[in-house]
Amino acid sequence: MLSVDNLTLHYGQSQILHGISLTAEPGKVTAVTGTNGVGKTSLLKAIAGRHPYSGGTITLDGQPLKHLSAYQAGRAGIAYVPQGREVFPLMTVQENLETGFACLPRSEHKVPEHIFELFPILKDFLHRRGGDLSGGQQQQLAIARALISRPRVLLLDEPTEGIQPNIIQQIGRVISQLRAQGDMAIILVEQYFDFMWELADSFVAVQRGAVSMAGRAGEIDRDALLAKVSI
Ligand SMILES: Nc1ncnc2c1ncn2[C@@H]1O[C@H](COP(=O)(O)OP(=O)(O)OP(=O)(O)O)[C@@H](O)[C@H]1O
Ligand SMILES: [Mg+2]
Repeated sequence: MLSVDNLTLHYGQSQILHGISLTAEPGKVTAVTGTNGVGKTSLLKAIAGRHPYSGGTITLDGQPLKHLSAYQAGRAGIAYVPQGREVFPLMTVQENLETGFACLPRSEHKVPEHIFELFPILKDFLHRRGGDLSGGQQQQLAIARALISRPRVLLLDEPTEGIQPNIIQQIGRVISQLRAQGDMAIILVEQYFDFMWELADSFVAVQRGAVSMAGRAGEIDRDALLAKVSI
C-alpha cells in the first residue's frame, strides 16, 4: 500500500501542498480530483520523484520513500504517466516503449505481450513515430510505457484530457483490467467527473493544496464531492 502523510511541497518560496494525506491500496483505484491549479500534478510529481517535497512522508508497504529521484522511484515500483503524455515525438512507438526499460535489469528488456493485449493498436503502429499518433493513441502509448516496469503503483495524471470519447472508454476498460489484476495501486488524477466516479474505489478532493473531502465509493456523497470540485 502507498501511504502519503501530511505532504508539503514548495516551488521556491511559494507553498503549493499544505499537508496532503491519502492512501492507495493494491487492486483499487484512488481518484484525486480538484479544479485547475490546486496541486494535483505537484502531488504526483512528489510521489514519482519528479519534484522534491518539503515535509511529510511517503511510504510504500511500510518502507519510507525518502526524497527519491525519478529513477529511484521507478526502481521502487512507482510508474508515472504525466499530464500531456510526454511521448517522444521523433522516436517510434517501439523506441518509446523501450524507454520504459530504464529501471529494469537487462535480462528483462522485452516488451511483455500483455501490453499489446491491453493496447492492440500499439502493435500495429510499432514503427510509427510517437508524434504521428493521435492524442488518444499517445495516451495509450504513455500508459503502456509506464506498465513496462510492472509497477506496484501507477500514477495517471488526467488520462482523459483532450481525448475522444471512444478512446476514453477504452482507457477506462484498461484501468479496470489493471485493477482486477489486484497487485497494483492506481492513483487516478482526473477532472472528468463522471469518468472517475464510475471507475474509482475511493475519492480525494483537493482544494488549494489540501484535502477538502475524502471517502470510499458507496460512502461518499456524489453531489457533495461534485460541489467540492466545481468551484
Ligand atoms: N514548476 C513550477 N514552478 C512554479 N510554480 C509551479 C510549478 N508547477 C506548478 N506550479 C504552480 O503550482 C500550482 C499547482 O500546480 P499543479 O500543476 O500541481 O496543479 P494541478 O492541480 O495539476 O492543475 P491542472 O488541473 O491545471 O493540471 C499552480 O499554481 C501552478 O501555477
Ligand atoms: Mg495537473
